Amino acid sequence: MSSLSQKNTRSYSWNSAEYWKAVELRRIVLRFPLGKNYVQGDFESEENELFFGCFSDFDRCLASISAKKLDEKTWKMRQFVVHPSFQKCGIGKEMVAFYEDEAHLNGINKIEFHARKTAVKFYQKLGYRIEGEEFLEVGIPHFKMKKNL
Ligand SMILES: CC(C)(COP(=O)(O)OP(=O)(O)OC[C@H]1O[C@@H](n2cnc3c(N)ncnc32)[C@H](O)[C@@H]1OP(=O)(O)O)[C@@H](O)C(=O)NCCC(=O)NCCS
Repeated sequence: MSSLSQKNTRSYSWNSAEYWKAVELRRIVLRFPLGKNYVQGDFESEENELFFGCFSDFDRCLASISAKKLDEKTWKMRQFVVHPSFQKCGIGKEMVAFYEDEAHLNGINKIEFHARKTAVKFYQKLGYRIEGEEFLEVGIPHFKMKKNL
């Protein structure tokens, strides 16, 4: 576990400096281990999403998560990642709490997403439940999960 003197959780904009820092973290944690990278069009497709990040005192991206609005009441949680040096330190839990507060402020009462099987227990601890059967996405097992706020 790495030490952390200060951190700051906040929303950030698509195509901002924070966005590209978060993309690098996503690339390292979510893509490279699967032998994948981003392709042209991946970033443009995110233009209308909302982004939330946790940054260190030197503005290093420690965690990121995004929201795609599915309808007036529902967000799809996407691209949730915590920096490997700071996983299992409570940042993920804090990020989900921040995300749910933001959802409330935006009039959202349902959050759903496709969870990697390896992370399902993390989400269950935070009150999310599995819906349906296991399926493959980006070549690895996933479950659909949701929570009514
Ligand atoms: C999954 C992830 C977002 C969790 O964030 P985190 O900061 O490591 O989690 P926290 O430290 O806040 O953990 C909160 C609780 O969940 C547990 N937990 C965290 N990750 C877990 C996992 N993968 N499996 C089971 N339990 C887990 C912690 O032990 C802790 O339990 P406790 O409250 O009983 O002490 C993070 O580990 C991560 O980025 N993993 C790699 C990428 C990934 O899988 N993203 C999700 C894609 S759907």
